Amino acid sequence: MLDGQKVDYDGITARIRALCEGETDAVALMATVVCEIHHGHPFCDWTGFYRVVGPELLKIGPYQGGHGCLVIPFSRGVCGAAARTGRVQNVPDVEAFPDHIACSSSTKSELVLPVWNGAGVLLGVLDLDSDTPAAFTQADEDWLVPLLAEVFREAA
Ligand code: SME
Repeated sequence: MLDGQKVDYDGITARIRALCEGETDAVALMATVVCEIHHGHPFCDWTGFYRVVGPELLKIGPYQGGHGCLVIPFSRGVCGAAARTGRVQNVPDVEAFPDHIACSSSTKSELVLPVWNGAGVLLGVLDLDSDTPAAFTQADEDWLVPLLAEVFREAA
């Protein structure tokens, strides 16, 4: 991550909370979260959700940036690893990640987080891609994990 460029976590969080208040529709929540993170985080060059649409299967959801691949099985890619393991995937160098799926040749680093609702249902994964190497930090993870749990708690 480049020194000096800070992420306005509080500002993005405040906008997401205000816009999502009272909403439970998962797609509406996803579209709003993606918009605010993409435009608020200085290192997000592609921001989007992949939704769980069947056993071990992800399909693209709301996103910002260039086109993304439509279908990802849990067995493939950084997104599949996040969905399969239930663990955050912070990839500082996508070239070093086995079976990384390159939707854009400019992507250098990636942060993918699994997203559950309050009933423990895996709704999908949030994928942040950056053209900057090692763009995402532990602070990004510490910010997003509880925020996503809060926003999607009541989502169906
Ligand atoms: N890079 C992801 C695929 C999604 S495109 O980057 C938008 C992966 O390896 O799962």
